[in-house]
Amino acid sequence: MAHVLNESQVTEYRREGYTIVRGLFNAEEVDLLRRSAKEDRALDQHAFGRADGEGGTVRLSLWNHPGEGIYGMFARCRRMVDSAEKLLEDEVYHYHSKMIMKDAKVGGAWTWHQDYGYWYQNGVIWPNLVSVSIAVDPATKENGCMQVIPRSHDIGRIEHVLSGDQAGADMERVNAILERLPLVYCEMEPGDAMFFHSNLLHRSDMNRSDNPRWSMICCYNAKSNDPYKDAHHPRYTPLNKVDDDMIVKVGVKRFADDESNVAWLEDANDTSARVLKDKAATK
Ligand code: SIN
Ligand code: MN
Repeated sequence: MAHVLNESQVTEYRREGYTIVRGLFNAEEVDLLRRSAKEDRALDQHAFGRADGEGGTVRLSLWNHPGEGIYGMFARCRRMVDSAEKLLEDEVYHYHSKMIMKDAKVGGAWTWHQDYGYWYQNGVIWPNLVSVSIAVDPATKENGCMQVIPRSHDIGRIEHVLSGDQAGADMERVNAILERLPLVYCEMEPGDAMFFHSNLLHRSDMNRSDNPRWSMICCYNAKSNDPYKDAHHPRYTPLNKVDDDMIVKVGVKRFADDESNVAWLEDANDTSARVLKDKAATK
């Protein structure tokens, strides 16, 4: 079983802006996550859509604190957190997690963006955050897997504008970047995990296939990068790590079975993209 990222994975992340760890979670673990998620009414009830500006809508649920359920065991386990700490070279805390639910035929697209394009708006000063996308279903070109522009994290933050309900990177600049850097489709098997830098440009297509493409993304911020103001994601909150075997020990444990307050983010409270519209309106 894979554990914390090794030196060559850390080097790849620093150079390319991401690294994919194949089989970070084994079949038993990811099957538990998939079973929990697909039958979780609370997860479904808290889901909201974000129009992609291309005619589709992507569905997701987002929560700020990891909790004691299986989702929390994934977000808090040493494989994830020790790896994030190695990449950010600091203690990390849980910034939020989300389930991207790209259902067959209907799952919408994500427009080109940097995660820091959103999080900059939340009083986060440095782009020293990392996201980890865990494939719950197989992610393929056909069902709208993530696409990235390797090395784009080195460019720094790009201007973002509102695109549908999403924050989209300035497309004139993205197109110029695409003339200089390649585009890579990140196909993944369930249990694979992609660690990516908050300034890495990424997107994904609509899911036109017959197969769902769900993934859980856990985002971590460095303790030293505590936001200077309150926003809809937490400021520094100590993260209690758990041992890797807690995933199997906890087993199928949905939000409905978890007493802890994970602080769901209802769409109405998520202002990182909407503030862009407000800015445009007041210009
Ligand atoms: C995201 O950028 O938050 C989601 C991207 C994806 O999973 O397609
Ligand atoms: Mn993103």
